[in-house]
Amino acid sequence: MTDLTVSRLLASVSESAPQAIDALAKLYSSQGRPVIAFGAGEPDFDTPAFITEAAKRAIDEPKNHHYSGPTGLPELRTAIAEYTSGYSGTSFSAADVAVANGGKQAIFNTLSAVLNPGDEVILPAPYWTSYPEQIKLAGGITVPVETDSESGYKTTVAQLERARTPRTKLLIFTSPSNPTGSVYTEDEIRAIGRWVTENRIWVMSDEIYHDFVYDAASFTSISRFVPRDQLIIVNGLAKSHVLTGWRLGWAISTPAVIEAVKNFQSHTTGNVSNISQRAALAALADNSDFPGQMRAVFNRRRLIAYDILKTVPGFVVPKPLGAFYIFPDVRAVLDGALKLNGAPVTSTLQLSTLLLEEVDVAVVPGEAFGAPGHLRFSYALDDSQLVEGLERIRNFLTSHY
Ligand SMILES: Cc1ncc(COP(=O)(O)O)c(C=O)c1O
Repeated sequence: MTDLTVSRLLASVSESAPQAIDALAKLYSSQGRPVIAFGAGEPDFDTPAFITEAAKRAIDEPKNHHYSGPTGLPELRTAIAEYTSGYSGTSFSAADVAVANGGKQAIFNTLSAVLNPGDEVILPAPYWTSYPEQIKLAGGITVPVETDSESGYKTTVAQLERARTPRTKLLIFTSPSNPTGSVYTEDEIRAIGRWVTENRIWVMSDEIYHDFVYDAASFTSISRFVPRDQLIIVNGLAKSHVLTGWRLGWAISTPAVIEAVKNFQSHTTGNVSNISQRAALAALADNSDFPGQMRAVFNRRRLIAYDILKTVPGFVVPKPLGAFYIFPDVRAVLDGALKLNGAPVTSTLQLSTLLLEEVDVAVVPGEAFGAPGHLRFSYALDDSQLVEGLERIRNFLTSHY
């Protein structure tokens, strides 16, 4: 008999946890509950008017009404190459760029371009939730490298070397990090770049949070320390210009990888919406430093969140230096004293359910990031909501400890 169930591969993929939590939080809100959601990984700002206006103009231009090329509009590829050269310190040209439907698709398509079945991908944990699922879909095997709050959630060359095998094909490197907000120093990145270079493996540098670094931290692109024939950069405008819903990202790599991505996209998605591409052109042409304006607001909220969370009983909270997430280690409150439907709470999956049910606060459990025992808070929400949500958690846990 024909097997009419979904494929084994797709049956093994689970829904993105942050998206699932966000959907549940929205459902509860629509039922009138006063939910405060720390789950969504996106700025709470609106897309700026200079971008939406450009998109409206683009809608009226017939040249945008038709198919365009699978790697993006030539002028957008040029603008992305110039932008990336500017912030990374490595020089790129339009031919190195493939535009995709969001950073997510850029990551998946480049993984698909370089991985053969059974190739290993070294992935420092905690990691962004979609990497392991995408690696699996692209035929690879994830080799996680665990880090903890003591190291500021940063991996070392010694750890990477222990994880390396003859099948290692690629390292995924994300600084600033989602979910931890950690940012590697230039020296640390140079050392990792040297290790990548010596071992002739690919590095995929996910630079989607490069605009969001705080205090004395600064962004360094690993592209400065690895040869071009081992480099993939993925990025997009979702976070920096609030284009999350517009789906606009890109990959930068070698001619062979860009050619493979072009062929793949030509069969799977065709071109990215021309309206979104025109919006991206407006974003990249702007010189008002819109990301810098958001950074100032996020920085204020980062400090508010840090000050409150570090006073919650049992929470160990490294101060994040980047992105817009804070990632407390909460293992001390998983001793079973808290109860969910009468059962002892011993995991962050249970704790996040308890917090949503008891105090209407949505957070993402560390399990989603390969780091059970932690919670991810996005502080991209209004200051008063931020304070109230964190205080609800503090009061709840204080009354139980
Ligand atoms: C680390 C990281 N990379 C890539 C993405 C993808 O962003 P998008 O597909 O919206 O461009 C995200 C989004 O949450 C992310 O956190």
